[in-house]
Amino acid sequence: MKAHLTRRYRFSASHRLHNAEMSDDENRATYGKCNNPYGHGHNYALEVTVSGAVDPATGMVCNLVDLDSCVETEVLSRYHLENLNTRQEFAVTIPTTENLCIQIFDILHRRFPHAHLERVRLEETMMNSFEYAGGQELIS
Ligand code: NI
Repeated sequence: MKAHLTRRYRFSASHRLHNAEMSDDENRATYGKCNNPYGHGHNYALEVTVSGAVDPATGMVCNLVDLDSCVETEVLSRYHLENLNTRQEFAVTIPTTENLCIQIFDILHRRFPHAHLERVRLEETMMNSFEYAGGQELIS
């Protein structure tokens, strides 16, 4: 009997969407204002969904303290108040919120052993959110 648990977190980071393989005109046409050379920031809302059996001893899918400490150590401390473009994982990969969502899923998939990671959902603005549930190799 499987139950799902979703926990919500917040962090802020900046990025610039720019592909070095494209001309300046192509970059502006592709990314619009997000190609501004000075970058811009977002207040991201991150939702992490895990699943598993409800432990009869604790009544929980997993301990929220474990989940919070993993997300804090592996994700929030890595990205909060950072310029995503300066991160090694975004040296080549464009730091769109799609790619950030995939990156966060891959980190938590490797680092959170206490429950099955179902899905990561990342809200970039009131109007945009992205989801990733694994199942595909990253295109490199
Ligand atoms: Ni943006």
